[in-house]
Amino acid sequence: MLYIGIDSGTQSTKAVVLDLESGAIVAQASHSYELIPGLPAGHLEQHPGDWIAAVKATISSCLEQLGSRRTSVRGIGVSGQQHGLVVLDEHDEVIRPAKLWCDTSTVPQCGQFADAFGGKEGLIARAGNTMLPGYTIPKLLWLKQNEPDHFKRVRSFLLPHDYINFFLTGVKRMEFGDASGTGILNVRTREWDTELVEFIDPAVHAMLPALGSSKVAHGTLLPVLAAEWGLSSDVIISAGGGDNMMGAIGTGNIANGIITASFGTSGTLYGCAEKPVIDPNGEIASFCDSTDHWLPLACTMNVTVVTEQVRGWFGWDLAEMERQVAAAPAAAGGVSFLPYLNGERTPNLPNGSGVIHGLNPATASPAYLMRAAMEGATLGLAYGLRRFDALGLTPGEIRLTGGGSKSAVWRQIAADVFGVPVVSLATAEGAGLGGAIQAAHADGQGSYEALCARLVSLDETTRCLPDADLVPLYRDKLDKQIALTTVLRDAGLL
Ligand code: XUL
Repeated sequence: MLYIGIDSGTQSTKAVVLDLESGAIVAQASHSYELIPGLPAGHLEQHPGDWIAAVKATISSCLEQLGSRRTSVRGIGVSGQQHGLVVLDEHDEVIRPAKLWCDTSTVPQCGQFADAFGGKEGLIARAGNTMLPGYTIPKLLWLKQNEPDHFKRVRSFLLPHDYINFFLTGVKRMEFGDASGTGILNVRTREWDTELVEFIDPAVHAMLPALGSSKVAHGTLLPVLAAEWGLSSDVIISAGGGDNMMGAIGTGNIANGIITASFGTSGTLYGCAEKPVIDPNGEIASFCDSTDHWLPLACTMNVTVVTEQVRGWFGWDLAEMERQVAAAPAAAGGVSFLPYLNGERTPNLPNGSGVIHGLNPATASPAYLMRAAMEGATLGLAYGLRRFDALGLTPGEIRLTGGGSKSAVWRQIAADVFGVPVVSLATAEGAGLGGAIQAAHADGQGSYEALCARLVSLDETTRCLPDADLVPLYRDKLDKQIALTTVLRDAGLL
């Protein structure tokens, strides 16, 4: 039996095909796309049609690789970038491009929510989360205030993975995990908060899709797609979820005590919890996961964004980046790289920018800059780890996933910066694997515990232990990163 996991990300869509019996990934494909160019700063958007084209391309490529085995495909599970807003008209046509998780144009709308509901504290008391520019619902208020003609045409809205599920099944539905990133879900009760909904507009009630358990399948593949792809007519589409929720499944993070760090375009740290973990500071998001538990999560907006940018300056390939980073000393001779190129969510600096500090004639070199960038992105996540610690979530080890986790030098930096052992998974495609496992679960192939125990494996060759001499060095460097950030923010310079 075969299950397809689709990971629709910000830079590309990847599909993997899992053979349930052997546990092997027997086919995979990827298809990349861009952000819409030329928009004002802070506006980060994509055409949902590009995601659908990529889903079609990657599924077709996987099915070609499978040949006649394609008839063994029993289910598909979709992972999507969280928070994006897809608005549909009365004919279910997309009205305008989707504003994404990394779009920071909604700072004023977040301020309006805070003013109306008692600030961060009032919002957290109400929904479990504060309102941040990345989340979905400030984008809908932005649409009402900035593009009223578009807003008037909205009949329903979906998240990116919901939209792909809609394409596959014709059904509009949200599951708890991704829905918790909208900003209007009370994560304690897993119900929409009526007053937050009505603050945008009473008409929003009618735009909300059905909300339900992540354990319930979303639907069945549309007959027209089953025929086009040569698949059987009863292929199920599981509920799917946000990429972090699906990454949690694909890294076996389905019980208390495990922490995963994802080094992708964004950086995330998350764990599974039996009940909501509410951060009074609002820095750790209190999300639901996509197995009907909860997922405390820290998100930074700048991880491979930063390393790719600096690598691009010098025209290096990935191997050369590794060599250069390894050639510079730990802590990069005191060079700090505040990584906030896209603005930042944690700490909350939506209009932030990158800063390089501490150059001198000995350190003003490409290798030091590259190392400082990699360290700065990792320290950004370590800031989140400190908050986890303050909330009583202290990991014994951290599982790494995402593109950045393929770098050996980065894994060692992560162990030294986090101060705990780190280990990668056998596949870096945690979200895609999570999608395939969720589909198998929805198809009745066993509990998550049993499926993950058999299908998720750590790659012990990647395990890195923290170097006792470097841990304090990086602790100091994080203190410096926080101090620089605070000073610049308080002076209105970030
Ligand atoms: C998490 C977040 C990002 C996106 C990236 O809250 O916004 O990790 O999900 O796709």
